[in-house]
Amino acid sequence: MQLTFNLAAVAALAAAASATPTKTGSLSARASLSPYYHDLAVDAGKQWFGCALDTTGAEYQSDLYMQIWNDSRIFGSTTPGNTQKWMYTEPQQGVFDFSQADLTVQLAQQTGKKLRCHNLVWSSQLPSWVTSGSWTADTLAAAMKNHITTMINHFGDSCYSWDVVNEAASGDAFTDNIFLQVIGENYVAMAFMYAYQAVQAGGYSVKLFYNDYGIEFPGDPKTNFVINKILRGVQAWDPAYIQGVGMESHWSTDYHPSAEQVATIAQAYADLGLEVHITELDVACPTVPCDAAALAQQADAYYAAVKGCLAVDKCAGVTVWGFVDQFSWIQPESNDGKGDPCIFADNFVAKPASSAVSEAWSGIACDVC
Ligand code: XIL
Repeated sequence: MQLTFNLAAVAALAAAASATPTKTGSLSARASLSPYYHDLAVDAGKQWFGCALDTTGAEYQSDLYMQIWNDSRIFGSTTPGNTQKWMYTEPQQGVFDFSQADLTVQLAQQTGKKLRCHNLVWSSQLPSWVTSGSWTADTLAAAMKNHITTMINHFGDSCYSWDVVNEAASGDAFTDNIFLQVIGENYVAMAFMYAYQAVQAGGYSVKLFYNDYGIEFPGDPKTNFVINKILRGVQAWDPAYIQGVGMESHWSTDYHPSAEQVATIAQAYADLGLEVHITELDVACPTVPCDAAALAQQADAYYAAVKGCLAVDKCAGVTVWGFVDQFSWIQPESNDGKGDPCIFADNFVAKPASSAVSEAWSGIACDVC
């Protein structure tokens, strides 16, 4: 894999971005819009615009994808899309494999990206020894502690933050999973306690996050549950155990918050003393390819995410969950026909959403929404 900076790839991206069709049909008005989203985010006072990377996915085999991903002016942060998850890192109890995750760390460091580490405790992508083991509360808590501690020590300060617990809420209840069944609701606070203890013992400065989807809507039952039961629940054990909340922001063109809603909920998390990240942004169209109306709605949603983050001091940045439709985890075959959620279409053609991101970071009106 070539890691050196490739001007041709960036030029291709810039050309693609400047050729983005707008609703009014005018290409020239936006020709000077910068595709350097991360630089725009930093200019606007934020820490990053980032993009996840799965080194086991097809995107990693695309030279153009990687050349663009590598460009630190475009993406200044990353999240391993899969490779730090439990099934990859501890496939057998006590046997750790960091090979793929270490590759992402190396790529991030070589390209000057902050790393959002993801994740330690989640219902999904668990190895079978966890899901089918015969556990007592004590033995599962010990296995969880060992996983958390080993991961935190291995990655140390190469992580800016860790998603300690992922998606522990479903609607207004705890997600049903092995940890809930065996340990009970306290597993969430226990995971944060173990993570905090590992960070303290290692002298690391990594920030500990709770990460979830559908928590971007003020007043929603799930949002309220996460605030009252999960975030306040962990803080009731010790406010030092948690530093932030990740709003995944997996949206669709017909269901996404406004910029004002994003700002309102981000401020609510900030008021709990937490840093806020938009961690996995993508916006699916109801059918593929997106029609003109959906493209405009998609642009509006990306614009809202960035504008909402900009409005709140403690929102540090925005990360997209991939940037080219053909490599997205949301493919129509497995999502009731929904798909094409990224800012670039297949074959790296810029969509209106790419301009919307630049416009939002630049603080100018959305011309394509
Ligand atoms: C997704 C990956 O992108 C897919 O490749 C994988 O098959 C399933 O997981 N919430 C999260 C992410 O926190 O880890 C998920 O990533 C998407 C939903």
